[in-house]
Amino acid sequence: MIHGKAAVLMGGRSAEREISLMSGSGVLKALRARGVDAHAFDPGQRDLADLKAEGFERCFIALHGRGGEDGTMQGALEVMGIPYTGSGVLGSAIAMDKWRTKMIWIANGLPTPRYRILAAGDDWNAVARELGLPLIVKPANEGSTLGLTKVVSTKQLPAAYELAAKKYRDIALAEQFIDGPEYTASIVGETALPLIRIEAPQGNYDYQNKYFTDDTKYHCPCGLPARKEKELQALSLQAFRVAGCSGWGRIDLMLDARKRPWLLEVNTSPGMTGHSLVPMAARAVGISYEDLCVKILELAHVG
Ligand SMILES: Nc1ncnc2c1ncn2[C@@H]1O[C@H](COP(=O)(O)OP(=O)(O)O)[C@@H](O)[C@H]1O
Ligand SMILES: [Mg+2]
Repeated sequence: MIHGKAAVLMGGRSAEREISLMSGSGVLKALRARGVDAHAFDPGQRDLADLKAEGFERCFIALHGRGGEDGTMQGALEVMGIPYTGSGVLGSAIAMDKWRTKMIWIANGLPTPRYRILAAGDDWNAVARELGLPLIVKPANEGSTLGLTKVVSTKQLPAAYELAAKKYRDIALAEQFIDGPEYTASIVGETALPLIRIEAPQGNYDYQNKYFTDDTKYHCPCGLPARKEKELQALSLQAFRVAGCSGWGRIDLMLDARKRPWLLEVNTSPGMTGHSLVPMAARAVGISYEDLCVKILELAHVG
């Protein structure tokens, strides 16, 4: 068997458990189809120590969100000496934190929307003046658009702050609104795959919309001139690396009216269902879903 006994880590305890189960089932089926001795393993239901006891030699991390994508699982696997897919401890932890990711990008001269961290006693008028309206309020640490609000008038700010900060006990980030098309760059190993343009229904950013309806359209090829796409692929690779990320992942970015790019975030363990974006970008360059899963598994590392 290629690669020895492999565990596909799926499920877990985060808010994105259901998506992870879908990603994991797809990956499991694909790896088996390619002759890998792969087995499902749900860290939400099982003791991690079983990985070692049952002789697993590699882990494909198909977990999303806290406890799977944030560096903690990566740290546990490091300690156990089991190679795993995707970013290491540092890159995973940084990418889970949109605030620290932005600080690193800014320190490296990479473009990311202007922002400020919100606090309960803030002067909301001053925030609106500083960033302009509309603006985006989102939690710094929770993925999948939980707690995100597009704020069009100052009086919405307190509620947007409450939603982002309180409900998920998190740091709330207010960000300049970028009015333009949205893209995602998929990264596998040392290459950025073709960009996908994401066309969401007007003003609709919620979680349900993103995963469970057909309203969002995805375009690959993305429609940009080849030179512009190349430039954004290079920018995404650089953004991925300076954030300490490796293996595979996805960078979300937008273009403004003047076609200038703005980096939004890194996803270090993006969706891997048959309809997910990294598989879609891979298909555009002739890499099948199965081959993509094997490729990611081959990039597994420890330390
Ligand atoms: N500064 C921004 N300007 C315009 N739209 C934004 C901005 N930040 C986020 N969005 C929208 O909200 C979505 C989710 O934001 P993102 O930062 O990618 O967080 P996550 O995907 O973890 O929920 C983006 O895909 C984009 O559509
Ligand atoms: Mg995103």
